[in-house]
Amino acid sequence: MRLAVLKETKPGESRVAATPETVKKLAALGLEVVVETGAGLASGLPDAEYAAAGAKLVDSAAAALEGAAIVFAVRAPAAPLPRGALLIGTLQADAAAAEAYAKAGVDACAMELLPRITRAQSMDVLSSQANLAGYRAVIEAAAAFDRGFPMLMTAAGTVPAANVFVMGAGVAGLQAIATARRLGGRVSATDVRPAAKEEIKSLGASFVGYEDEESKAAQTAGGYAKQLSAEFYAKQAEVVAGHIAKQDVVICTALVQGRKAPTLVTEAMVASMKPGSVIVDIAADAGGNCALTRPGELVVTGHGVKILGYTNWPGRIPAAASALYARNLLTFLTTFWDKEARAPKLNPEDEIVQGVALTRGGAVVHKMFAPAAAA
Ligand code: NAI
Repeated sequence: MRLAVLKETKPGESRVAATPETVKKLAALGLEVVVETGAGLASGLPDAEYAAAGAKLVDSAAAALEGAAIVFAVRAPAAPLPRGALLIGTLQADAAAAEAYAKAGVDACAMELLPRITRAQSMDVLSSQANLAGYRAVIEAAAAFDRGFPMLMTAAGTVPAANVFVMGAGVAGLQAIATARRLGGRVSATDVRPAAKEEIKSLGASFVGYEDEESKAAQTAGGYAKQLSAEFYAKQAEVVAGHIAKQDVVICTALVQGRKAPTLVTEAMVASMKPGSVIVDIAADAGGNCALTRPGELVVTGHGVKILGYTNWPGRIPAAASALYARNLLTFLTTFWDKEARAPKLNPEDEIVQGVALTRGGAVVHKMFAPAAAA
């Protein structure tokens, strides 16, 4: 059975869905692994390492896909897939895309829809990638900041510690807090989910935020933050506005699943910050938390505040991101692997399979997109 690993085609996508380490393990399952040449280059993984791990290298997506029963990808592939293939990636599909997979006879699994349950943690691509994004955001903030993070006591005098405020304390935000603390920053953070407050404090940061009856129920059963009322956001803005004016660095990570990211840093708040301050908006992929963020760009305001609104933050630390992403996909496949048949076996009754499977046998089966759900 052939498994294809494609070179990503989306501009700026530097990650790859399998590494030499995972190729070895996939081959040990009895799979013939075919890798498109150059697939790992942007992650520092040359073709020769894939070949040494047992992969066959071919020089086009079409050649890699020929006869493939399984396809590993980071993003939805542009090339047409063979009928009957099982596609596993972060597909960001909408109803039309799901319908297209069904028509093409591709069994598509969208890994970003994985349920946030304990058993699925080792396959959780959102977590593994968000963790690295949170780290990278702080490293880039420190590089863009024209002073230091730690308090430096020198013979020429003292340089004060940077005040760092992390907005959103999910996976990325918690890693951002930990990284900023390691660099010596004075760190505070905010979130709306009640559970996040304790997590913020346990990492040694202070909590700044607004809480009321509404925020007590701000978490969905799936662990995500809910969209809250305009009144709540206005109260939250009042509380954080004064705090932001005193910050050197703001790291924005707040997301509400399936919606545009909430605007938490207004133009007036940016204007209140000192020249040289830095805002890193890793929510930029979802529109951004800062009103002045331009997704994909660095903005420098007239009074010298830098706003880093780059998108695809995991792709800015590609070797580590690919290593973790590839392990997530390997774990998913081995969890649903029939050793005797030497083939994947995705039990439709399994909660994880129900979470990610968009299509099966030519039909849309996901509850978000199935015709039954629409009716
Ligand atoms: P996310 O990426 O969807 O959002 C990031 C953070 O933004 C969240 O903490 C959210 O509460 C916060 N946020 C939303 N609106 C906000 C606002 N107005 N102001 C401030 N913050 C705001 O979340 P992520 O990182 O994916 O984590 C969501 C939850 O899932 C967490 O509770 C996490 O512990 C849980 N989780 C569970 C896993 C598992 O059990 N397998 C794996 C990963 C996460």
